[in-house]
Amino acid sequence: MNLVLMGLPGAGKGTQAERIIKEFHIPHISTGDIFRAAIKNQTEMGKKAKSYIDAGNLVPDEVTNGIVQERLSKDDVKDGFMLDGFPRNLVQAEALNKMLADTDRKLDAVINIHVSPDVLVDRLSARFICKNCGATYNKLYRKPKVEGTCDNCGGHEFYQRDDDKPETVKNRLDVNIKLNTPLVDFYKKQGVLHNINGEQDIDKVYADVRQVLTSLQ
Ligand code: AP5
Ligand code: MG
Repeated sequence: MNLVLMGLPGAGKGTQAERIIKEFHIPHISTGDIFRAAIKNQTEMGKKAKSYIDAGNLVPDEVTNGIVQERLSKDDVKDGFMLDGFPRNLVQAEALNKMLADTDRKLDAVINIHVSPDVLVDRLSARFICKNCGATYNKLYRKPKVEGTCDNCGGHEFYQRDDDKPETVKNRLDVNIKLNTPLVDFYKKQGVLHNINGEQDIDKVYADVRQVLTSLQ
């Protein structure tokens, strides 16, 4: 299955991706994760991307498209992939269509996790992540079963993302809200869009996502 997971910052893309990977074993390609790894490793690309991410802006399309194109050329995604956070605008969406057409592939589904922006500020400021395995938690909505211990790997260290600071969150949301509607329309016209209500609890959102994915198999 060739999938795109889309939704505003904090809509639950990463949270749902964790569950999809476990059940459907589809390689997960998160452009945000790729950028954060590059920043951590202080690569040239990471240094370029950092100023955009810290401000809550998009990294320029030519950089982002290049990264995705390279990733989609690897062997492990020949039989399927799940893009998370890409594309975010029409230039990227057109570029993705071309990358896929050039290699005789196409998208099977775009899962659009819809959450109203008012809910997202709270979700993002309460997010924390396991330092060891990257599992995502939330002080309000998804605490680990045992306080201070990651459910997934037993790790005890957690961190907050730099771009979850209130001043960055506002711009991240503004930037993405503007780009979201044209992208939704683009994929609706292409006949691959599946809207999911992302304001339900995490398990219920996953049940709806699962239903879509099962229908595609
Ligand atoms: P990226 O890392 O993709 O960030 P984002 O799009 O802002 O989305 P998030 O990862 O913040 O949210 P999410 O939807 O994954 O939510 P999560 O599951 O964690 O990108 C970061 C930056 O990189 C961008 O700002 C940009 O600068 C750059 N970038 C990335 N892609 C790019 C591109 N294509 N082009 C250009 N630049 C790009 O959930 C959030 C919180 O809510 C968690 O605490 C979770 O536990 C909780 N939660 C999840 N679901 C629920 C629920 N149903 N109910 C209650 N709480 C929930
Ligand atoms: Mg994410």
